[in-house]
Amino acid sequence: MFKNFDVIIVKNQREILEAIETAKIEKPEAIIGFVPTMGALHEGHMSLIETAKSQSDIVVCSIFVNPTQFNNPDDLKTYPRTIDADRKLLEEKGCDILLLPDVKDVYPNGEQPYSIDLDGIDKSMEGAFRPGHFKGVCMVVERFFEMVQPDIAFFGKKDFQQLAVIRKMTAVRNLPIEIIGVPIKRAENGLALSSRNALLTEKEREDASFISRALKSGLDFSKTNTNAASIAQHIEAQFKGTAMEVEYVAIIDNDTLEPVEEVSANSTVCTVVYYGKVRLLDNMQFADA
Ligand code: PAF
Repeated sequence: MFKNFDVIIVKNQREILEAIETAKIEKPEAIIGFVPTMGALHEGHMSLIETAKSQSDIVVCSIFVNPTQFNNPDDLKTYPRTIDADRKLLEEKGCDILLLPDVKDVYPNGEQPYSIDLDGIDKSMEGAFRPGHFKGVCMVVERFFEMVQPDIAFFGKKDFQQLAVIRKMTAVRNLPIEIIGVPIKRAENGLALSSRNALLTEKEREDASFISRALKSGLDFSKTNTNAASIAQHIEAQFKGTAMEVEYVAIIDNDTLEPVEEVSANSTVCTVVYYGKVRLLDNMQFADA
């Protein structure tokens, strides 16, 4: 374990528990807030850290590009890695502990068989287009929960389905951890902030802001037509003639994640759009229409 700037950097379970124990000497009942990330940190992550700081006494952030959740080896290879800049940002935001493990610290016995029944909420959308993705996400988040033993964990609402999956996993495993969803952060042009945006040029990031405008126009359309299929069609049609390709537009119930026929204040539209090889997610709630 070593101290760099003001953030304590640890690598494995023994070091993280030691660091937390030391921090707890001053305040034994300290609330541990945890923000798991894959790095390439941006303002969206900073808002997770800020929320964690406002609700906990000790904030732990992990940076680990988890190989078990990538079904596409190229995606894993090209995933942006900016660890020095990440460290500085965490330091600026006052994160207390940075967990920076290697694969063997997370999976000391290699990748073990893992299964969990999530009542089907992991099967649609990301689950359908990225087979095995949520198994990898649950595997790593459950392992991090074991390593860090947080009281509260914070996840971005940009990954709408992931948040639901993690809430479900935590309930199924009966873990005493509160899961908090933090609102999407957008660039001024409306583009949802994502580590993958770093793979786009400035011009492409400007073009990609179209995704949020298309979703917003779907929300506006719903004021006169609540039929989900028509709204999805309306959104998809807008991408014709652009450099972007829609993978899916799904309009779902917020609780079950099942597709809805008619939208209500409890529905969300989720989309994935490819800009070249870069896969961009976004979603908007009809309650905000
Ligand atoms: O959302 C992410 O960055 C990742 O899926 C997570 C939750 C850190 C697990 O690797």
